[in-house]
Amino acid sequence: MDESNSRAREAPASLQGFVHRFVPGREPGAPALLLLHGTGGDENGLLPLGRMLGDGAPLLSPRGRVLERGMPRFFRRLAEGVFDVEDLKVRTRELAGFVAAAREAYDLEKKPMVAVGFSNGANIAASLLLLEPEALDAAILLRAMVPFEPDSPPRLAGTPVLIGAGRNDPIARPAMAERLAELFKSAGAEVTIEWDGGGHSIGPSQVDAARAWLGRTELRRSAS
Ligand code: MLT
Repeated sequence: MDESNSRAREAPASLQGFVHRFVPGREPGAPALLLLHGTGGDENGLLPLGRMLGDGAPLLSPRGRVLERGMPRFFRRLAEGVFDVEDLKVRTRELAGFVAAAREAYDLEKKPMVAVGFSNGANIAASLLLLEPEALDAAILLRAMVPFEPDSPPRLAGTPVLIGAGRNDPIARPAMAERLAELFKSAGAEVTIEWDGGGHSIGPSQVDAARAWLGRTELRRSAS
């Protein structure tokens, strides 16, 4: 078992009220990956994906603090696809506070922070880009929706964003992925959409595409 595996099995830590896992990096040049799980996931669920995407990258993986019938999420929803936007905005700011505290606690201040979100986690990552852009330096949004339409355009000049979308996704539908891409592009982000023929789950081709995108994307830690 490598060191990152054994550390990942230690009891989860808590920071700013977020239960989370932190797996230290082994590769000095690697960015930190902020792993944000989908509904019903937890801080362990995306660690394997994080390891596949970033060789030796530090992994920071919080558990969403909202429970829906016992399933962790990052913010409340009123129905499938209908978000409690007020709660979403509060939870987004809390998550930004967690990211800032974790950067300090785990000595990540000089590293670019790349969100890797799936479904509900991709939606709060998109909300972080809209409301707290300095929390992230790039984002991989897998099966994301438009979290809300912002009143004024966010400031995302040059921020790399990869949207992984499925042509047959009945939840994060193709039109939503396209609208999200448009929203980020109009804010100056460098957006790539990667399509596959799948539904609301991630297939191996999207993992490969995300890994390749991360490998070729120039990342810079933006000043906060
Ligand atoms: C959400 O609630 O964030 C989306 O509907 C995706 C999901 O978690 O099912």
